[in-house]
Amino acid sequence: KKERTLAMIKPDGVTKIGDIFELINTANLIVTKAKMIKLTWSQAADFYMEHQSKPFFNNLVQFMSSGPVVAMELMGDEAISIWRRLLGPTDSAVARREAQESVRAQFGTDGIKNVAHGSDSVAAAARELEFFFPSTMGHGPSNTA
Ligand code: CMP
Repeated sequence: KKERTLAMIKPDGVTKIGDIFELINTANLIVTKAKMIKLTWSQAADFYMEHQSKPFFNNLVQFMSSGPVVAMELMGDEAISIWRRLLGPTDSAVARREAQESVRAQFGTDGIKNVAHGSDSVAAAARELEFFFPSTMGHGPSNTA
């Protein structure tokens, strides 16, 4: 099934973007939109709203607003699950034990500094893509390809 998903390279992953693109290409996913942006604290908090009650929320939002991120729309067959499989487990240490080839195993630091994010469902992908690439509805020049 052809899907689109939101891939976000986190501040610690931006210097690894060449290697990450190579993995994306090898997995037959296509980058159809991309944007580099430095999130404010409140934008990062909005993006991770569903985690607001978690003990790591403040550290996560602080980290995600500490430097630029690169948001991308990826398209391809089963793009959502394929990108998450490329990422590996959330905790980079677990990724190194269980998925040695994964992005987080190779480039991650810990549970928060884990290189990149991927939407976990069709609904999350729609919400997260709209967050970074809002539909313009005819107001001014479109940024869609
Ligand atoms: P991400 O895929 O962006 O989705 C939520 C993020 O919260 C996750 O990657 C991690 O960066 C962070 N996170 C999730 N679980 C934990 C945890 N147990 N400890 C610290 N950070 C976490």
